[in-house]
Amino acid sequence: MKKILVTGGAGYIGSHTLIELIKAGFKPIVYDNLSNSSPIALERVAKIACQKIDFIKGDVLDKALLAKTFSEHNFFAVIHFAGLKAVGESVDKPVTYYQNNVAGTLNLLEIMQQFNVKNFVFSSSATVYGDPAALPITEDMPRSTTNPYGQSKLMVEYILEDLAKADKDFSIISLRYFNPIGADVSGTIGEDPSDIPNNLMPYISQVAVGKLPKLSVFGDDYDTPDGTGVRDYIHVVDLAKGHVSALGYIERQNNPFGFEPINLGTGRGTSVLELVSAFVRTTGQAVPYVIAPRRAGDIAACYASSDKAKALLGWTAEFDIGRMCVDTWRWQSNNPNGYKA
Ligand code: NAD
Ligand code: UFG
Repeated sequence: MKKILVTGGAGYIGSHTLIELIKAGFKPIVYDNLSNSSPIALERVAKIACQKIDFIKGDVLDKALLAKTFSEHNFFAVIHFAGLKAVGESVDKPVTYYQNNVAGTLNLLEIMQQFNVKNFVFSSSATVYGDPAALPITEDMPRSTTNPYGQSKLMVEYILEDLAKADKDFSIISLRYFNPIGADVSGTIGEDPSDIPNNLMPYISQVAVGKLPKLSVFGDDYDTPDGTGVRDYIHVVDLAKGHVSALGYIERQNNPFGFEPINLGTGRGTSVLELVSAFVRTTGQAVPYVIAPRRAGDIAACYASSDKAKALLGWTAEFDIGRMCVDTWRWQSNNPNGYKA
């Protein structure tokens, strides 16, 4: 059974990916400092997957512990979710963000080279496309970012490209996620923001459950069909399966292939108001909202071309917006306070 080191595996996307890795016959080993996650998520994954989850409480900034971990396991690949992800916070704490996301990744890559583990799947983001000149977004479009979080993802992509050129044994897939929402069908694991949510879907579901009074729709004067921002929402379970497909691609290649960026999105755009009405329609919950000014730094529209993921990985997203809403609501209504009692 191939062992996969999953950094950040206790987090939102990581926890869902563990289930898919186990289903596909891999043996995940989680390495997470729990700075933005709960050990309860791993207990629940263990219940869903009917097996114990190997867990090392550790920081990717701790090189000694990383080296110890690699000395104790023979990893086939690393899936690197660990990192900080709040755009606004990254503007206030750039050093913390570059330290965690860039220096942390460098540590990991150094130890991987030392232990000759050369298969790497990185959590990148659609944020590396900045304000795209055309839609849908293809992987060869120019990259730019406007905040330290986005910069940290772009810097890591540049580092990975240089590494792949210098060390021909590496196979690196940079998965550029669009907007993950939804939750496992059990309703026992899901996204658990530690504070007031920044992102749309967790905000909607916290309004629906009565924790927040109303949603502010940030701008209704964008150049989009209904004036509100358009994004490519993707079910987190589809996203999780994309990681298994990425490992499958690595396994199928006879030779290391260097650096390959791949979008994980549905290829469909949904506006803020469309998402709100889909949520109300599918869950029967009220979501009061007001139109508010635009949020600084937001773009009008962003959605993926998913052609490359289909061609290379044989992967396409299966779940529609209605299913994303229903699954989000099941998690939120069963766990109004997330993993906290
Ligand atoms: P998350 O915060 O739920 O998960 C990240 C996990 O990494 C957490 O469990 C956290 O405790 C851990 N972590 C953070 N810093 C660490 C460190 N220094 N050492 C060890 N563990 C550390 O976030 P998520 O939504 O699951 O995102 C996973 C990855 O995907 C992140 O790299 C994020 O930037 C990227 N991403 C997320 C989105 C999104 O909208 N959720 C979109 C694009 C990209
Ligand atoms: N929005 C609202 N009200 C809210 C929150 C969001 O109207 O309370 C709107 C935004 O203006 C935007 C849309 O909902 O039009 C989606 O916003 P999110 O914050 O959910 O997502 P973003 O696309 O802005 O950003 C997310 C992640 C970034 C990541 C990016 C691309 O937060 O880290 O997707 O993957 F880089």
